[in-house]
Amino acid sequence: MRIALGSDHGGFEYKEIIKERLINAGYEIVDIGVLSNQAVDYPDIAVEVSNTVVAGDADCGILFCGTGIGMSIAANKVKGIRAALCTDTFSARMAKQHNNANIITLGARTLGIELAYEIITAYLSEEFLGDRHLRRVNKIDAIC
Ligand code: RB5
Repeated sequence: MRIALGSDHGGFEYKEIIKERLINAGYEIVDIGVLSNQAVDYPDIAVEVSNTVVAGDADCGILFCGTGIGMSIAANKVKGIRAALCTDTFSARMAKQHNNANIITLGARTLGIELAYEIITAYLSEEFLGDRHLRRVNKIDAIC
């Protein structure tokens, strides 16, 4: 599985730690940046990761910022993206099972690194359940 990773300066450290763990776990990573903790505007990274996922150059995306909020707002503006801000493992599992989220966003200033990694592994280990959830997701995708 190929995962696009992105962060702003607020999430840079977490992105680097998670990148290393995911590579060690056997995932292929497309690192969209940032490449240092120099301040950037999170929408720029959210759009790049989103475009990478929509283009099929990654199976899903993971975005980090201070809270995860700005990244989720920005990514959800991109047609075809269903980005879920996840703050717990149950939500992360549901984001995949019920919402078929193709991006999750996390807050590096709101979560510990171990919880962040657990959230990510919970999301990555689930499958979309389809059926009635597919009908609902199709309705989301038909908006705008
Ligand atoms: C950057 O200071 C901060 O606003 C950003 O990382 C994020 O939390 C936005 O939602």
